[in-house]
Amino acid sequence: MVHPKSIVILDFGGQYAHLIGNRVRRLGAYSEILPPETSANDLKNAAGIILSGGPQSVYDKGSPQADPKILELGIPVLGLCYGLHWITHTLGGEVKPGATKEYGRTLIHIEHGGGAILQDCGKECTVWMSHGDEAAKLPPGFTRIATSDACANAAFSDEQKKIYALQFHPEVTHSEHGSDMLKHFVEVCKPAVWSIDNFEQKITEEIKKEVGDKSVFMLVSGGVDSSVAFTLLNKVLGTERVQGLLVDTGLMRKDEVRLINEAFKKVGIQNLHIVDASQEFFANLNNMYDPEEKRKVIGDTFLAVQKRISEEMGLDSKKYMLGQGTIYPDTIETGGTKHADKIKTHHNRVDAIQKMIDKGLVIEPLKELYKDEVRKLGEELGLPHELVWRHPFPGPGLGVRILCAKKEDRNQKAEGSEIALPHAILPVQSVGVQGDGRTYRHAVALFSSDPFVVTDKHLELATTIPNKSRELNRVLLCLSHTKPFDFSFTSGYLTRERANLLRQADAIVHDAMMQAKLYELIWQFPVVLLPIGEESGKQSIVLRPIASTDAMTANAFILPPDVLKKMTEKILKLKDIDAVFLDLTNKPPGTIEWE
Ligand code: XMP
Repeated sequence: MVHPKSIVILDFGGQYAHLIGNRVRRLGAYSEILPPETSANDLKNAAGIILSGGPQSVYDKGSPQADPKILELGIPVLGLCYGLHWITHTLGGEVKPGATKEYGRTLIHIEHGGGAILQDCGKECTVWMSHGDEAAKLPPGFTRIATSDACANAAFSDEQKKIYALQFHPEVTHSEHGSDMLKHFVEVCKPAVWSIDNFEQKITEEIKKEVGDKSVFMLVSGGVDSSVAFTLLNKVLGTERVQGLLVDTGLMRKDEVRLINEAFKKVGIQNLHIVDASQEFFANLNNMYDPEEKRKVIGDTFLAVQKRISEEMGLDSKKYMLGQGTIYPDTIETGGTKHADKIKTHHNRVDAIQKMIDKGLVIEPLKELYKDEVRKLGEELGLPHELVWRHPFPGPGLGVRILCAKKEDRNQKAEGSEIALPHAILPVQSVGVQGDGRTYRHAVALFSSDPFVVTDKHLELATTIPNKSRELNRVLLCLSHTKPFDFSFTSGYLTRERANLLRQADAIVHDAMMQAKLYELIWQFPVVLLPIGEESGKQSIVLRPIASTDAMTANAFILPPDVLKKMTEKILKLKDIDAVFLDLTNKPPGTIEWE
């Protein structure tokens, strides 16, 4: 059953469902994401329904289908892209492959005043299109409200029945007036008002009820979500009923443990146990080279340490619940969207935890919130701004940013590819994502006489090279050298020395971003250590600043040349580093992390 008067997004598997959900919340309405096959009966208390985009064609076998009765509930419905195709197909119109596939910015011409949704958007505006199919014939009763050069029926509606269909994506920022369009839909829906203000008050009774007379044990990572959840639980239940454990893996950032501890002390929380387990982690990672194996070893070691410590602390499961900082997208990524292309099981939803959840042994006070809402709540709870606005950091920490390789891997075939600028192929491989699959391929470094200036040509090559080549998945710009040089390879796995080295480079980058006031404009900024350098025994650093909204897709964030130059000079002063690169690859075809 849905929250009464919420706006429900039926997720047809596009990458934008969360973006729509988040935009709707920012417009002051509570939103929920549900699977497309949710029955009309379950949706009858919703204030509005948005049908998301999706990668398939409505004619594909097994393509996601909603319950046609949702169109008879009298509730406003907005179909976007695939959602438009489904409405058209279901109500007797005709969907056909478009003459031209349209991707990217497109000008639409608005007709009939734009109806309720496109009113006030002017006569023309630029929107974000991404489609192959289109509505060739409208269903009976619908009127066209916008057209574009390549797509005759870019938007149409049945104003009386309050059913609206847009071929484009108003939820992405590239769509001019996109948020006005969503706002108009929200106004038509008259949903219950939602705001994160007073969330603490709203959730307090729920937490007390769920926990009853038990206490809560919680793992704190130093990330935003677990920190906010831990603080909230402490405030609601009192510090004597909450136990926190922070495991120092040796793969954390510089001063991280101290900063977290100080942040909690500032809000009156002293009940965080800190355990230095770094020796155990490095011992288990000895001679490990494969990225996935490393991840598994880190995960397993974490569980073993946690189990041992909680036993030492005498935490009895009859008296303790497990607290988790799970947020809304984490719950949906795993189970809710079986049509989404990129499903992964979040570590808060692995089998053992799911069983505990089913038995009511887990409390997740943030499970209905988006990241921006969690941050706002964190600030309301008095956590320091720097902690609340930290970049997302992967669970295995610096472990996934220290590239491990046993032997040099030169790719002769890749070396022959035609690249217009001076370049060199790195003799190591990294993970990427192409099509729907994972790739493990080489990166190519470009060289330039003006190495801190990223040009349009560099960015073009960053897109075209991985698209054309079957051997390469990343494009870098060399910041430390102006001409290609011979790489020297040193076999390397994950050691304390390498973690210390990367930690120093990571701290240089963090401080530079703070000083340049760029930190909060960047989604994430992995700093990666490679076991190759110019001289024998030396290593390299790769800078990977990215812009993103949800980590599903990402673009390289372009930094000012003076900032790049200063960082490079500082990093090159580190003992054992003699080359620095900048990663310009988008995701896809690269991933955000290298491993
Ligand atoms: P990729 O590298 O797949 O990363 O583009 C997408 C997002 O996930 C984070 N990431 C991880 N987070 N454990 C985590 O908790 C992991 O093993 C892991 N690997 C990647 C990454 O930092 C980015 O935000």
